[in-house]
Amino acid sequence: MPKETLSIVVLISGSGSNLQALIDALAAQSINAEIKAVLSNKADAFGLERARKAGIPGLFIDHTAFSDRLGFDQAMINTIDPYHPDIIVLAGFMRILSNEFVDHYAGRLINIHPSLLPDFKGLNTHQRALDAGHKKHGASVHFVSNELDGGPVIAQIEVPVEEHDTAETLRLKVIKQEHIIYPRVIQWFAEHRLRLQGQHIYFDHKLLEKPLLLNSLPASQTV
Ligand code: GRF
Repeated sequence: MPKETLSIVVLISGSGSNLQALIDALAAQSINAEIKAVLSNKADAFGLERARKAGIPGLFIDHTAFSDRLGFDQAMINTIDPYHPDIIVLAGFMRILSNEFVDHYAGRLINIHPSLLPDFKGLNTHQRALDAGHKKHGASVHFVSNELDGGPVIAQIEVPVEEHDTAETLRLKVIKQEHIIYPRVIQWFAEHRLRLQGQHIYFDHKLLEKPLLLNSLPASQTV
């Protein structure tokens, strides 16, 4: 019997290159998942164009039209829930979410962050990695908790920080890897291999002691 298709709603605020990577991966690879809708809090987010071009509903809710965070988050919930998503994928969504929103989607809300968490939560991660003299930088995919960039980390991918790197060259190196790691994690969801229980991640029914490091996996291995 074929497994049910994983339903995804993606939240964006900007360019949506991670959204594009996911759209492309779903088209090219045998990932049993479908993006039901893309929701942006910015009317001019280029990611909305990408969604529409791919035949996915591109929705806009203006956060400035709400007097408080909860009002906006409730409007998002009301918009998202009719799609019955199995997971909500944050891909450059630049709003802090209320505890109510996070709790509503507990265990099915994930984010990608451009650092090796727990290092460099928040903004300007590439410059901060340079300033701190780190030799390794990268990206993390994590479950979203009520602490900013603080939920359990599913997977990470590393890039070396080189002598000549600037914040921009590092950003480019990292985002290239983001486009690999995010579709891969979503594939694991589609294969029912990931589960959050409390603050613990189970991968293939085994407790994940530390984030999966994608660099260390041979290219042939389809974890
Ligand atoms: C990425 O760097 C992601 O890690 C961060 O926001 C950026 C989004 O880029 N959360 P894009 O909109 O996917 O191009």
